[in-house]
Amino acid sequence: MGDADLVFQSYGRACNNPSFFEEFYSNFMSKSPDIRAMFVNTNMEAQRGLLRGGVLWLIMHARGMSDAKIRALGESHSKKNMNINPMFYGFWLDALLETLKVYDPEFTPELELCWRSTLRPSIEMIQDMYDK
Ligand code: HEM
Repeated sequence: MGDADLVFQSYGRACNNPSFFEEFYSNFMSKSPDIRAMFVNTNMEAQRGLLRGGVLWLIMHARGMSDAKIRALGESHSKKNMNINPMFYGFWLDALLETLKVYDPEFTPELELCWRSTLRPSIEMIQDMYDK
């Protein structure tokens, strides 16, 4: 099985639990007051649902799906739209991995490396679109 398939299965095990996304945002916001500030006016229930799909797009992209959804994220998160500085994606990925470690009962250090290498190209594409 390829890395992206292992990651797909890991995500299925972890995001089964409805509190996965609550825990993710709690971990993510604890990384920086700037991140917390970006979500003060956000409907977090809706946001958790959007992120569920967003993570899936990154995984599907790694499994060969077109980059249309990734480009849409790059556009919405870019400087001229939501203005998400590229430096925040490292925190995002760390918060995701911390959450997976707790919610995927089959998590291993090897699987962490699979997650990081699988999501990296999509995240880099989003970061590159910041000031395009
Ligand atoms: C690759 C990682 C990320 C994914 C998959 C993702 C996914 C999403 C999705 C699906 C939305 C809904 C709007 C849309 O479709 O564009 C969204 C909104 C948003 N994201 Fe991200 N995001 C990521 C990284 C980040 C980072 C690093 C930040 C920085 C703090 C951030 C901040 C926000 C904010 C502030 C909103 C709007 C919230 C609102 O509507 O009030 N995102 N994100």
